[in-house]
Amino acid sequence: MNAAYDNIGRSIAAYERSNEVSPYNSRYDTYVKSGHGLTSEELQGLELFNGKAKCVQCHSGKDFTDFTYDNLGVPKNPMNPFYSEPAFNSLGASWVDQGLGGYLKGAGYDASVYEPALGMFKVPTLRNVGKQSGVNFPKAYGHNGYFKSLEEVVHFYNTRDTMPWPAPEYAATVNQTQVGDLGLTPAEEKSIVAFLKTLSDEKIATKLTMNVNTLTLKLPKPFELSGLLTGAPANGLLVNVMVKKPGKAYYSYSSARGTYNATGTGASWWYRYTPKLKGTYTFYVTFAGDATYSPATSLPSIVKVTVK
Ligand code: HEC
Repeated sequence: MNAAYDNIGRSIAAYERSNEVSPYNSRYDTYVKSGHGLTSEELQGLELFNGKAKCVQCHSGKDFTDFTYDNLGVPKNPMNPFYSEPAFNSLGASWVDQGLGGYLKGAGYDASVYEPALGMFKVPTLRNVGKQSGVNFPKAYGHNGYFKSLEEVVHFYNTRDTMPWPAPEYAATVNQTQVGDLGLTPAEEKSIVAFLKTLSDEKIATKLTMNVNTLTLKLPKPFELSGLLTGAPANGLLVNVMVKKPGKAYYSYSSARGTYNATGTGASWWYRYTPKLKGTYTFYVTFAGDATYSPATSLPSIVKVTVK
C-alpha cells in the first residue's frame, strides 16, 4: 500500500518537473539566458526584489521560494465563508488559521515544537503569480485570499508598519525584521509588480523558424518566431521585429521582446506573439548594431502569418 502511494507521489513529481508543467520559458527566463528582453521598469523591479525590498531573502532560487515558513502578519479575510459555516467551524468569526503550527499541534507534537510555528505559512513560489484566467477574473493572494491584487501585496510589504492595516490574523510570531517598512516609493512598488509579471510562463503553441515563411494559425494561438545567426555577431546586435496587423497600413515597431543570445560563435533569437485578430499579419525582421547583419548587408526577412 505504502509503495503504491510512493509511486503515485513519484509520478506526480515527475509530471510536475516535466516541460508541460514547468516550462521555465517566462520572459524572466529569456532575460536570464540572453541578458535581453526586460524593460527598464522590469529591470528596476528585479533590482529592488534582490535588494532594497528584500524579497529574495525568502523568494529565492529558480522557483522563487526557499521552502521555509514565515508569518507576514496578513490580516484575516472577513470574506472567508468558513467564518459562517457552523457545521465545520464552531468558533465562527473568531477562528484563526494557525498555519504550520496548527497542523503540528493537531498531529500531536509538543508545544515547544508547534508554538513557534503558529501562524507560519510556506513561502510560495512566485512563478506564474501574475497569471489570471481572464482580465476580469477575480484572483486573490496570501493563505486566506486577503489581497486582491499584486499591487496590494507589494503595498502591504512596504507599509504594513507605517499605515493603518488591520491586525494580523495571528500576531505572536509576526516577522518584524524583514517586512513591513521598506521605504519604497510608489514608482518602486509599481516596478516590483511589473517584474513579478515577467515570471509568467508562456504557452507557445507553434514555433516557426525563419526558413519557413508562411503559416496559418487558429485564434488565439500564440506563436514563436526564431532564427539562427551564423558567424560571430557583435555583442550589441539587435534583432528588431516590426509587425503589420491585418487591415493596417503601417508596421508597429516592436523589439522589446525580440531577443537573442549571442554566444560569440553564432546566436539565436526568438520573438513571441499572440495574434488577436483574424487576417494576415506580416512580420518584418531586421538586424542592427553589427555591420555584418545590418539592413545594408543582410536582407530583411518577412514572415506572413494568416490567422483564421
Ligand atoms: C520573510 C520572508 C518573505 C519575504 C522577505 C517576502 N515574502 Fe512574499 N511571501 C512569504 C510568505 C510566507 C508568503 C505567504 C504568506 C501567507 O499566505 O500568509 C508570501 C506570499 C507572497 C505573495 C502571494 C503569493 C500567492 O500566490 O498568494 C507574493 C505575490 C509575494 N509574497 C511577493 C513578495 C515580494 C514582491 C516581496 C518583496 C517585496 C516578498 N514577497 C518578500 C514570505 C516572504
